[in-house]
Amino acid sequence: MKDFTLPLQLMTILADGHFHSQERLEKLLETGIIDINEYVSVIREWGIEVLHVNGKGYTLPAPLELLNDVVLRQSLSSDAGQLFVVPIVDSTNQYLLDRVAELRSGDACVAEYQYAGRGRRGRQWISPFGTNLCFSLFWRLEKSSSAVMGLSLAVAVAIAETLKDLGVSDVKVKWPNDLYLYDCKLAGILVESTGKMGDVLQLIIGVGLNLSMQESASNVINQRWISLQQTNIKIDRNQLLVQLLIRLRTILKQFEREGLLPFIQRWASMDNFMNKPVSLLIEQHSIYGICRGIDEHGALLLEQDGRIETFVVGEMSLRGAI
Ligand code: BTN
Repeated sequence: MKDFTLPLQLMTILADGHFHSQERLEKLLETGIIDINEYVSVIREWGIEVLHVNGKGYTLPAPLELLNDVVLRQSLSSDAGQLFVVPIVDSTNQYLLDRVAELRSGDACVAEYQYAGRGRRGRQWISPFGTNLCFSLFWRLEKSSSAVMGLSLAVAVAIAETLKDLGVSDVKVKWPNDLYLYDCKLAGILVESTGKMGDVLQLIIGVGLNLSMQESASNVINQRWISLQQTNIKIDRNQLLVQLLIRLRTILKQFEREGLLPFIQRWASMDNFMNKPVSLLIEQHSIYGICRGIDEHGALLLEQDGRIETFVVGEMSLRGAI
């Protein structure tokens, strides 16, 4: 990987959202204007606009709340798992996958920017530097691989409940593992497995949650999305990560003991599509029906002509929405 030390240093200076003159930046970074321009280009590749005004210098359109290693470490018990805070990485899921042999359940990785962030169904996950939350959690689970679907639903419930506790009362879940707010995608979950070690599943649970992404990102994201910032509820980025990790580590233990059962009613109370007419896209094929929630394994229940069928794959949308 390229050495990003100096662009990262510049990013840290600019994160306060104030103007910084060229002379000051040259002094702080011990470099000249040509290099500053190069670092600015790198930062722009990370999805962040850098503004330059003659006579005033460089600034960002808005301040960024960067991850704070010290605060994160102080707020999280190391007994519950390690936290790898990496500014730039291909993907936090990949970071953990590459180290799976050394990991314990509860270990996690968070990044400011992923240059190869991935979503479900082979899609890219776009998230500009320092703007949202992109993190992954490792868990070893003594269950069959069919439990993975249920686990990702339990994870969505836990994230939604954490946000509700912080005042985001309208947050909803969407089968199989999205969070929605006002019918727009707020967060996505990607659970990857490294295969079984005996009877144990090794899982990487990746979460991407939009916090303060700017409208300009809409050019590259081809679905309706929303950021928490649009709710005007003030949420501290580092504290949100702490709360999410604590809650996820807790509910994963509960899922190990009790399976999906304790989460089914909680899912139903937050299901964005419950009792609504939906279409389910499976490969090239659309199936229509009324969403009736999930069964005890986490499969989607769809009512068609008065009969309820279960589905384990597919991309759901409100009927008529696409
Ligand atoms: C989706 O909705 O398609 C799932 C998106 C999951 C994105 C997160 S961001 C952190 C983790 N690392 C990745 O590369 N992907 C997941």
